[in-house]
Amino acid sequence: MKFDIITIFPEIFDSYFNESILKRAQNEKLIEIKVHNLRDYSTNKHKRVDDVPYGGGAGMVMTPQPLHDAITAVKKNNKGPVIFFTPQGQTLTQSKAEKFSKNFKEIILVCGRYEGIDQRIRESLVDLEVSIGNYVLTGGEIPAMVLIDAVSRLIPGVLGKEESHIEDSFSKALDRKKEYPHYTRPETFKKMTVPEVLLSGHHKKINQWRKKNLK
Ligand code: 6GU
Repeated sequence: MKFDIITIFPEIFDSYFNESILKRAQNEKLIEIKVHNLRDYSTNKHKRVDDVPYGGGAGMVMTPQPLHDAITAVKKNNKGPVIFFTPQGQTLTQSKAEKFSKNFKEIILVCGRYEGIDQRIRESLVDLEVSIGNYVLTGGEIPAMVLIDAVSRLIPGVLGKEESHIEDSFSKALDRKKEYPHYTRPETFKKMTVPEVLLSGHHKKINQWRKKNLK
């Protein structure tokens, strides 16, 4: 899966995508993540990407020119849907992450800042608006990381057998419920013990216990 991200803060992505599972997935070419600096596309002599809102009011709005040029340029090498991150979008869920993972080979992610982006860009170049929950963040960069993480770990081969996503919380296998509790060694920790059934080796009973303990 190829992800192209358009942002005014490209450095934000340096740390998260260069660790652990997502780093390995990139090394193994299971995913490709490219970050594009929106400012590079501004034709303004000060490389500005925002301006005051028509009609007045608080906050700045991202201007259409850099967004248009950046999205159009990225679309040449990425034929996937253009997703714009905004609290007004449809909320990302596990089943939506599964659909993205299954249905798309490429995705373009546009991270907004300030009060938002010029409405004409939303109407002419954005295919899908996504939110990650009912609260407001300062920009779409964390939502872009959230989507890439949630979608990438569902791509076959990204998680090892040890980390399988089949029985994730919210998965179909768990009736879209939250996972059962987990325990590991030692058997007694600060006088707290492990449920007896998990030590029994009785797989049918263990499965019943786990099903009963879904949230
Ligand atoms: Cl996608 N963007 C912003 N700015 N805030 C959010 C969000 C997105 N999702 C939840 N809050």
